[in-house]
Amino acid sequence: MDGGAPGRHGGRLDYYQLIFERAPDPTFVVDPGGRIDRANDQAARVFGYGAGELVGLSVEDVIPERFRARHVAHRAAFWSGPRLRPMGQGLKLAARRKDGSEFPADIMLSPIATAHGQLVLVVVRDVTERQLAEQRLLDSLREKEALLKEIHHRVKNNLAVMSSLFYLESRHTQDATTLKILQESQDRVRAMAMVHEALYQTDSLAAVDFAEYARSLCDRLLGTYRTEGVAVRLSSALEPVQVTVEQAIPLGLILNEMMTNALKHAFAGRRAGEVRLQLERVSPSGCELSLLDDGVGAPGGAGESSGFGLRLIHLLARQLGGEFELVPLARGTQARLRVPALTPAVTVDVA
Ligand SMILES: Nc1ncnc2c1ncn2[C@@H]1O[C@H](COP(=O)(O)OP(=O)(O)OP(=O)(O)O)[C@@H](O)[C@H]1O
Ligand SMILES: [Mg+2]
Repeated sequence: MDGGAPGRHGGRLDYYQLIFERAPDPTFVVDPGGRIDRANDQAARVFGYGAGELVGLSVEDVIPERFRARHVAHRAAFWSGPRLRPMGQGLKLAARRKDGSEFPADIMLSPIATAHGQLVLVVVRDVTERQLAEQRLLDSLREKEALLKEIHHRVKNNLAVMSSLFYLESRHTQDATTLKILQESQDRVRAMAMVHEALYQTDSLAAVDFAEYARSLCDRLLGTYRTEGVAVRLSSALEPVQVTVEQAIPLGLILNEMMTNALKHAFAGRRAGEVRLQLERVSPSGCELSLLDDGVGAPGGAGESSGFGLRLIHLLARQLGGEFELVPLARGTQARLRVPALTPAVTVDVA
C-alpha cells in the first residue's frame, strides 16, 4: 500500500480521493491489525498531526490510554463480523490528539473490501459542542424542575396559610352558619393545597398519583371532621390513576365534597358508619371515583340544586367532561363520579 498519497495523477487527486481527503469529519482507513492505512486532511488537522504522520500509526495511538486494552479486544470482535455500525453504542467515547489532549467523539465503522483485503473506514466526529449543548439543556431542565418544585411548595404553603386563617377566624365566632362556612372553606383550600404538596413530592412534578392523594385527603378529613359521637371507618380500593394538576384540583375538590357530605349527612343519628373510597380506571384514560357510605341515604331529589356542595361537584364534573350521580344503595349512598377520558386541557374555573 502506498500510504498517504494514493491515486494521485500528476500531483492531482482523483475524484474519490478528493471526497476522502475533503470529508468534513476526520476519516481513517484501518487494517485488521489496527494499523492506520490512510487518514484524511481533517484527521490530521483535528488530531494535531502533520500531513502523512498518522499513516502507519496504530488506532490505539489516537484513543485515550485508558481505553486501549479494551479497544484491542473490541477490534478483534469487530472483525469477527464486520458491518456498518457506530462504535461503542451507548458508551461515551473519546479520541486522543497528538498532544495527549482528548475530545468526546462519535465513531462510525464501515468495512470495505479492497484489492488489498478487508479494511475498515472509520469516521470520527468531534461531539464537544453537542455534548456541551446537551449539558446546557440538562442544566436548564434541572433548574426549571427545581423552580417548579419551589413554586408548588410555595403555592401549597400559601394555601395552607389560608386554610389556617379560616381556622383562626372560626375561633372568633359562635355563629353556626359562619362556623360551617369557615370550616368548609378551610377543607376546600386544604384539598387544593394537598394537590400541590403531592406534586412537589413526586419526580414528575406534572402528574399526581390520584389514588394516593384520594386516600390521604379522606384520611385527613376523617381526622379533622367533627362527626360527634359517630365512629366512622374508612376503607378503600384504589387503582393507580395519574392525573395532571389541572385534573387533580377539580377531582380533589369533588372528593372533598363527597367525603364531607358523607361525614356530615350519612350518619346522622348513628353511632357508627362505614365509608368506602373506590377509584377505578375505565377505558384507557377514564376513571370512576366513588364514595360509598352505609348511612341513612340521601333524600330523594338531592341533586344539583340542593346545596353549594353538589352544585360545585356538578360544575367541576362538567369541566372534567364527566358525570356525577348520587346513587341510592340498599343501605346508604354511593356518590359516583365518572370521567370517560381525562384529557390534559381542563381549566379550573369555579366562578
Ligand atoms: N352521603 C350522603 N348521605 C346522605 N345525604 C346526602 C349525602 N350526600 C348528600 N346528601 C344530601 O344532599 C344534600 C345536598 O348536599 P350538598 O353538599 O349540596 O349540600 P350540603 O352538604 O347540605 O351543604 P354544603 O353547601 O355545605 O355542601 C345534603 O343536604 C344532604 O341532604
Ligand atoms: Mg355538602
